[in-house]
Amino acid sequence: MSKDLFLRLLNASGCLDALTAPEVARGLDGFVTKTITPLPREGNAPPRIAETAHGMLNAIGLANPGRERFLADTLPQLRELGVPLWISVGGFCAADYAETCAALEDVEAVELNLSCPNVDEAADSAAEIVAACRRATALPLYAKLSAAHPDVAEVARAVAAAGADGLSLVNTLRGLAIDPRTLQPVLARAQGGLSGPTLKPVALATVFACYSATKLPIVGMGGVTCAQDVVDLVACGAQDVALGTVLFSDPDAPVRIRTDLTSADLDEVFAAAYKKSAVLA
Ligand SMILES: Cc1cc2nc3c(=O)[nH]c(=O)nc-3n(C[C@H](O)[C@H](O)[C@H](O)COP(=O)(O)O)c2cc1C
Repeated sequence: MSKDLFLRLLNASGCLDALTAPEVARGLDGFVTKTITPLPREGNAPPRIAETAHGMLNAIGLANPGRERFLADTLPQLRELGVPLWISVGGFCAADYAETCAALEDVEAVELNLSCPNVDEAADSAAEIVAACRRATALPLYAKLSAAHPDVAEVARAVAAAGADGLSLVNTLRGLAIDPRTLQPVLARAQGGLSGPTLKPVALATVFACYSATKLPIVGMGGVTCAQDVVDLVACGAQDVALGTVLFSDPDAPVRIRTDLTSADLDEVFAAAYKKSAVLA
């Protein structure tokens, strides 16, 4: 991958199928998997996707093949891509997460999805989950948090104390779209996770708050569509940046953004932002 860039460009979990689009995955500095749960999940009934004015709603519901099939079938295929792998781990209690962590080796990092808005099951506390995973693995652990928490910086401090090596910010926020003809919710589940450009100011505020609170490395995400969005996240404290919804409409976004970030005129702004001199000095 490009060595001139100061940061790693990743995909956001659930927004890229690396096995059907390997060339897109190879344009990234790391591929983040869809969240894996211990048992297979079919996810929610369709429709599971809706467009809104400045973003997208999804209620996929953590559809995935389950841990066993992921480890036996998917992971070996992903390794062949030659891209560093980040495994997104989900579950419904601390033991679910910890058991998956214990089964993983030779991957770049583990991202603990502590924040999916599209499932009904309540999870144990974020700190409890991180502590259990810390005992289960020496791999780098990134805690993915929701901006919906009234005091996300407090959660960030708690997961840092429990042993998280980094934070992934932000997951989607709950939203709803109405079909103007039927006046019924578009999504079968009614509510879904809102992503895309509408999320960017929320992502910036969350990264800013959590970086200030913990100084942990942060993968910033939420509404990134261009190089300036990356610079803005870095200025707020992100060390790395992930691309999500943009990949559905523009699979070339990683290449475009990388080129723009390394172009002469943005370079200076980016270097300043990276040193956090823009906002955090
Ligand atoms: C279709 C879709 C599926 C997603 N699936 C997951 C998932 O499995 N695990 C997870 O942690 N986040 C998931 N997300 C959230 C993204 O990883 C990301 O946090 C969010 O979309 C914000 O980034 P964006 O605005 O660039 O899309 C999903 C998002 C979308 C749009």
